[in-house]
Amino acid sequence: PAAEREQTTDVVVVGSGAAGLMAAVALAETGRSVTVVTKGELGAGSTPWAQGGLAAVLGADDDAELHVQDTLVAGAGLCDEPAVRALVTEAPGAIAQLRELGARLDLDDVGRPALTREGGHSRDRIVHAGGDASGAEVTRTLATALRARGIAVLEHTVALDALHAADGGVAGVRTARLTDDGALTDVTDLHARAVVLATGGFGQVFTATTNPAGATGDGLALALRAGAEIADVELVQFHPTALWTGAGARGQQPLVSEAVRGEGAVLVDADGNRIMSRAHQLADLAPRDVVSATIAASLRATGADHVFLDARHLGAEFLARRFPGIVRACRDAGLDLAHEPVPVVPAAHYVCGGVLADLDGRTVVPGLYAVGEVACTGVQGANRLASNSITEGLVAARRCAELLAAELPALAEIVPPATAGDAIDPAARPAITAATTRHAGVLRDADGLTELARTLAAVDRAAGPLDLATVEATALHTVATLLASAALARPESRGCHRRLDAPETRPEWQVRLVHRLDRTGHL
Ligand code: SIN
Repeated sequence: PAAEREQTTDVVVVGSGAAGLMAAVALAETGRSVTVVTKGELGAGSTPWAQGGLAAVLGADDDAELHVQDTLVAGAGLCDEPAVRALVTEAPGAIAQLRELGARLDLDDVGRPALTREGGHSRDRIVHAGGDASGAEVTRTLATALRARGIAVLEHTVALDALHAADGGVAGVRTARLTDDGALTDVTDLHARAVVLATGGFGQVFTATTNPAGATGDGLALALRAGAEIADVELVQFHPTALWTGAGARGQQPLVSEAVRGEGAVLVDADGNRIMSRAHQLADLAPRDVVSATIAASLRATGADHVFLDARHLGAEFLARRFPGIVRACRDAGLDLAHEPVPVVPAAHYVCGGVLADLDGRTVVPGLYAVGEVACTGVQGANRLASNSITEGLVAARRCAELLAAELPALAEIVPPATAGDAIDPAARPAITAATTRHAGVLRDADGLTELARTLAAVDRAAGPLDLATVEATALHTVATLLASAALARPESRGCHRRLDAPETRPEWQVRLVHRLDRTGHL
């Protein structure tokens, strides 16, 4: 739709998870005018659902080099080592800033942040809050800081497309306000010197995910249309332990944090046999890709639709104190974490790839920056180390704000875009998610991925007016198409990408796979 009005701001931040909120707060502190555009209420992204916490070297027995090595090992050869080193070095400072802003972290007996362990970590280095409500505390802290600074926020507003500048760069975003029934209104061109995408991931392209309803990849699709390079989207991380809530469960599923295994819970099959003890030297605390792939292989072999997490030996009192939200989620599902093994299954959780950017958020498109899950900075490699994601979002957001404080591009003139992609019929969404789940889940092969690409090419284009359902279906279709193409293009198994027809990790594929649109608007 055409814009009804225009506004100008220095920087538009799209999204309000940890990365978007921190970017806005840090930018405002440099004196820039900032407008935050967010699809739901402020802070309603994936961050508030994060349970485990934030990884940082804070323990007396820990060392930055250990955190670097753990991240590189989990990343299975695709991390960018300088980016990892920057993350590890700057993580304690980002957490100190959170505390200065008022974050109430869980503390040990002497008042230092209490630390726990998760998969792939060789030391206890996960900072947490409210037991298992770490992300909610990060969100509360940053949203409060943002409101206190009077930063402009457009809630229930979707970024439809980038505004194009004559030099091929980005000069702002076209936005629309959402009515209660998802119609678009008040279409506005938000002219800006820089656009910071912090729109998170796309777990909703799978039938079951730990991500909330808004994680539909809109920012990734917008960046692709704006000329950005997209890297490594085949590297979708499946969390090993979403609560299994019944066959045919759809949408966001309750997460059972890896920290429960960090405290000693174990994965077992229906006969009570340990699943992970022979699969990896770290057993239940192996890196996440290994645990999810082992569970998926076990489910394939047995025909079962879930395995179990046994936390009974941790005791009811400890579980209620340490994991109040998880105990409650189990109870809501009719399960008692303290007295029975609970059914769990891998579910789409985090995308390691995304808009190719450095840790300062720079993309190849002038004026377009990406931070947090939407970005692929090389920190996460082929498999993100547990609890490195909110940490990365905070570190990258701070660096991006510093960069824009030093060198904010000039306000560019807006020109009409060269191509407008087709919108997808929202009625096609179930077919898109079903085919993606079937063919591009934890275990994949070339035949299935080819079938996925064929299914996606055949879905109907939208006939009705543009609304939120159409915007999201279109983004999901773009993401699924990228995913099918990238997963087919990597004929090996590495990190989160497991090909049944190419089970080996191959040194010649220790490369990043990059996609972008050609001049005709095609991949
Ligand atoms: C969890 O609590 O298991 C999730 C942590 C993460 O995804 O990093």
